[in-house]
Amino acid sequence: MAVIFSGIQPSGNLTLGNYLGALRNFSKIQDGNECYYCVVNQHAITVPQDPKLLHQRTRELAAIYLASGLDPDKSTLFVQSEVPEHALLGWMMITSSYVGELERMTQYKDKAAKQGDSIPAGLLTYPPLMAADILLYQTNFVPVGDDQKQHLEITRNLAQRFNRLYGEDIFTVPDIYLGQDGTRVMSLQEPTKKMSKSDDNETATIYLLDEPKAIEKKIKRAQTDSENSVHYDKEQKPGISNLIEILSALTDQTHEQVEAAYVGKGYGAFKKDVAEAIISTLEPIQQRYRQLVSEPELDDILDKGAAKAHAKASLTYEKACKAMGLFRK
Ligand code: TYM
Repeated sequence: MAVIFSGIQPSGNLTLGNYLGALRNFSKIQDGNECYYCVVNQHAITVPQDPKLLHQRTRELAAIYLASGLDPDKSTLFVQSEVPEHALLGWMMITSSYVGELERMTQYKDKAAKQGDSIPAGLLTYPPLMAADILLYQTNFVPVGDDQKQHLEITRNLAQRFNRLYGEDIFTVPDIYLGQDGTRVMSLQEPTKKMSKSDDNETATIYLLDEPKAIEKKIKRAQTDSENSVHYDKEQKPGISNLIEILSALTDQTHEQVEAAYVGKGYGAFKKDVAEAIISTLEPIQQRYRQLVSEPELDDILDKGAAKAHAKASLTYEKACKAMGLFRK
């Protein structure tokens, strides 16, 4: 039985990228593994948040986790700020990090380039907090999208560094778990850029709670090329390749199978099927979400999840404190 940990920030409306890169893998691996899934609200506050909205989105994200197939009897679902060991071990991880390695993180560099001096310090110290999330549970595998590779690499480095300094068996060194297709879903309007919840152009992004009509419209308008041939070529045809990856991921087909099904058919027929595949995947999730989000049962699940997560996290935290000399008796 492997330990699995992953988290999503409650910082905006979730996208098809979040679903294909992360969420759908969470429920696939919950049988036979010890799984922890977290609403990482303390990561969300590394950029300013409206408190009311953050509170609301925390609950909504928990409902999305469940609606997309997490079974609370199999997986532990909880909110990061309700398990204090995340911030506590996060501080220890910050003290084990070098400013240089944090400044080299591409996500930090991208954001720092836009904000100059007023960049929040939390954006720099984001990766050690993420390392703490993962290491607290002695995690073996972290299911995430491709954009988190660098964060996983620094988590491994921090775990190895800490073990070397303070004792070999303190932290398990985790591995990334990447799915096959859908690990990097691209923008529908600029298909060389990642699909993102924070994109200003709404037609570039499919949101998990989009109405069928909006999905049809966005896929119809998705950037392609003038060849009218459904063929996978990431360099020359990034738009069509992105849609092929989406359809492959949703229907469990290879790219070749998708290509073969559209020989002699144009982009119109292909796009219609891509939209249908998205709609038929998202509709049942949306229905379950609407039922769950206002249920008091959601609070019971999160209360129990926090207690279970705390029980495991506190063992690792105490071990790390002892090893570092942070104790009195
Ligand atoms: P976040 O909230 O940005 O995204 C959540 C998950 O969605 C994946 N993802 C994508 N996958 C494919 N295509 C896309 N366009 C796409 N956009 C997002 C992300 O890779 C991620 O798996 N740092 C994390 C949150 C985090 C975390 C953790 C994750 C904090 N602590 C511990 C794992 C373990 C983040 O910002 O995810």
